[in-house]
Amino acid sequence: MSNVVVIGSQWGDEGKGKVVDWLASRADVVVRFQGGHNAGHTLVVNGTSYKLSLLPSGVVRGTPSVIGNGVVIDPWALSREIGVLSGQGVTVTPDVLMIADNCALILPLHGHLDRAREEAAGKGKIGTTGRGIGPAYEDKVARRAIRVCDLADPDSLDMKIDRLLTHHNALLKGLGAKTLDAASIRAELEEIAPHILPYARPVWRELAAYRKMGKRILFEGAQGALLDVDHGTYPFVTSSNTLAGQAAVGSGMGPGGIGYVLGITKAYTTRVGEGPFPTELFDDKGERLGVRGHEFGTVTGRKRRCGWFDAVLVRQSVKLGGIDGIALTKLDVLDGFDTLKVCVAYRLDGKEIDYFPSSMSEQARVEPVFEEMEGWTQSTEGARSFAELPATAVKYVRRIEELIEAPVALLSTSPERDDTILMHDPFED
Ligand code: IMP
Repeated sequence: MSNVVVIGSQWGDEGKGKVVDWLASRADVVVRFQGGHNAGHTLVVNGTSYKLSLLPSGVVRGTPSVIGNGVVIDPWALSREIGVLSGQGVTVTPDVLMIADNCALILPLHGHLDRAREEAAGKGKIGTTGRGIGPAYEDKVARRAIRVCDLADPDSLDMKIDRLLTHHNALLKGLGAKTLDAASIRAELEEIAPHILPYARPVWRELAAYRKMGKRILFEGAQGALLDVDHGTYPFVTSSNTLAGQAAVGSGMGPGGIGYVLGITKAYTTRVGEGPFPTELFDDKGERLGVRGHEFGTVTGRKRRCGWFDAVLVRQSVKLGGIDGIALTKLDVLDGFDTLKVCVAYRLDGKEIDYFPSSMSEQARVEPVFEEMEGWTQSTEGARSFAELPATAVKYVRRIEELIEAPVALLSTSPERDDTILMHDPFED
């Protein structure tokens, strides 16, 4: 039996919500370990749709859920999300939700800064979610963040806010913007503290206890491998490490606790925000993928860019992320295409290469080398066994496995939890 880490193997939005929900129903505890409320996971449970941003997916079913230290928390957004779930009949109590007391907070100033910088960048913008994720991680690394535990320590809060504002007010003055007032930040934090503190504790201890008891731990990654701050398409990335190794650091557990790494992989490619995308489609085929796949951001509502499956990028994610097997999602979106294309290599300055280079200018110059495959006319939606799939769909799946050098452990054929074909149980690895 093994713990499982779920990560996205592309640029996020691979359909992690459904797979995580499916696995969460069999896990003893679910852990978020990076990112913040930039994530958007949609779960469909008994016909009801739940949209989660910051809360681990386990909370919907009452499975103990942990927000680990690697996450940046906007306490107001968290409180609102708990409120929305409560309106849908899901009560989030401190028995179900545990928050690492050493998580760094996202304050309103981080959101303002994120959006102001994007606006000022014009064409050079990253296309962030505007949620303050980058600025909050910057303050964490610069050792001036306010953390969850600080909410319980009003005596030291003034000193910490002063330290934070020494930096931010200098920046704001330089930009000719209005500076911030320490007293009002303190008042806001004091007001929100009682909504967050009941959930706060040293969660690494709880996780160590779960591990000792041999319980199943599910680590729920957000975003995707290609948005990783080190290994992604920098600078068009998020500000955290999204790969499986982060599950250990971002929850307070040794690397031995990680177990099986499941990479969620969409049967085609999408991306929101700016940045390179070699297989992007600008024609009616891309439009069709977007419409059939409902490719609009859960968090920002932005239209996602769509393109063919890029096996080079996913193979890179498999190697970088230590992915043991993939969950292939949204195969049904490809139903009805006469032919399909898969990117099998790139051409860079006349030479063929089998990896995505790090340099921005090289990334912009690579051209995809496509392999064309026959499509299928029958519907694959809702298939629950391999035998129900058309032969050409099976061929497509097998070719992907070969190209990315990882097996398909799970195949998801609709947003419904039970429309899943299981080839290999990650928990039983
Ligand atoms: P940030 O995380 O808001 O700083 O945004 C940085 C980049 O990551 C932008 O391209 C966003 O569109 C992208 N991004 C952040 N979160 C997600 C997500 O959950 N799914 C897909 N893209 C995301």
